[in-house]
Amino acid sequence: MWRLQGFDAERFVAEYWQKKPCLLRAALAEFESPISPEELAGLACEEDVHSRLVRQGDDDRSWDLRYGPFDASDFRSLPQSHYTLLVSECEKWLPELTDLLDLFRFVPDWRIDDLMISYAAPQGSVGPHVDEYDVFLLQAQGTRRWAWAESRGDTPRLVEGLELAILENFAADQEQVLQPGDMLYLPPGHAHHGVALEPCMTFSIGFRAPTAASALESFALETERFGRDIARYRDPELETGRHPAELTTREIDEFRRLALALAERSDALWPDAIGKMLSDSAVIGDPDAEQPVYVSDLQGGQWLRHPESRLLYHRADDAIRLYFNGRVLQLPHTDEILALVQRLCDERELAPDLVNACLRHDALETALLELAAHNAIIKSEI
Ligand code: SIN
Ligand code: CO
Repeated sequence: MWRLQGFDAERFVAEYWQKKPCLLRAALAEFESPISPEELAGLACEEDVHSRLVRQGDDDRSWDLRYGPFDASDFRSLPQSHYTLLVSECEKWLPELTDLLDLFRFVPDWRIDDLMISYAAPQGSVGPHVDEYDVFLLQAQGTRRWAWAESRGDTPRLVEGLELAILENFAADQEQVLQPGDMLYLPPGHAHHGVALEPCMTFSIGFRAPTAASALESFALETERFGRDIARYRDPELETGRHPAELTTREIDEFRRLALALAERSDALWPDAIGKMLSDSAVIGDPDAEQPVYVSDLQGGQWLRHPESRLLYHRADDAIRLYFNGRVLQLPHTDEILALVQRLCDERELAPDLVNACLRHDALETALLELAAHNAIIKSEI
């Protein structure tokens, strides 16, 4: 079991989170990577795994990016130095790695995106760049020299003609060599550059920050609930004597007012718009093709959260809204049901006593059947 040493989450959030970089020496002092470089390469050969190989050419402006899946011959033909293999969403393929992500649960679950693992040969790097997300860079094996900017830069100039977003000019304020167990936190927008001093592995715990546009998109989908009752454009003060082809500023403003008023007045729609958006997941097979699930199935066997499924809940006054796979279930808001919902969200392997306790409540029994029917929970094969 891992533990962040000398780490005070409250202090960290107050001083650093989304504010400034923070180097956490020996945060995971005894850390040993649970995956070897060879296993990482094996993962990068699998069909559904997102992987990339970045190779640096002869100078700072020549970079080559290739996407996996790879095969053994791709790795055999690599040089001795100046390349990095990166594999995203490793926690989905190696569920024991979710224990590592759990160290970051001082941030809400929905903010945590994935665990990316990279292996770099000596001098390997993905170049100086900027990420749009918060990231903790845990040095898992070997040493790496990180250079970073202490403040957020303006919109950066990128080296032209590359598939990778490499900064044209990178000026670091800080430079440090990270040893295994050290960790560097970077808020979004801080330029950084890590170069392997020897064969090394870096674990990136990345966060997500959905855009305003995705919130509006999800809200727009939710307004379908209004059906024909949704507000429409009206123009009792129709302007005459204008060119019939003109779309006037007043008309545009009226649409804007209409849309903003809808967003403002639809309190009831926002929890589901955001909850569905944040729990949405590209998983999860075709539910219509699945066998129906019965209570007896839930009682027998070990149930697990699908590794790609996100569960979160919202406490409204009169109900608990449970979000999964871009869907919502409504449950009565009692202390007992809330405690069970929290356990459902916490436990990746559902303990039999949790399943049985849920089955004693009609609403939670229905919820479990729904979760199972949509593959948000799955039966363990072992
Ligand atoms: C890496 O692991 O090489 C890159 C991680 C990052 O800079 O975000
Ligand atoms: Co980065």
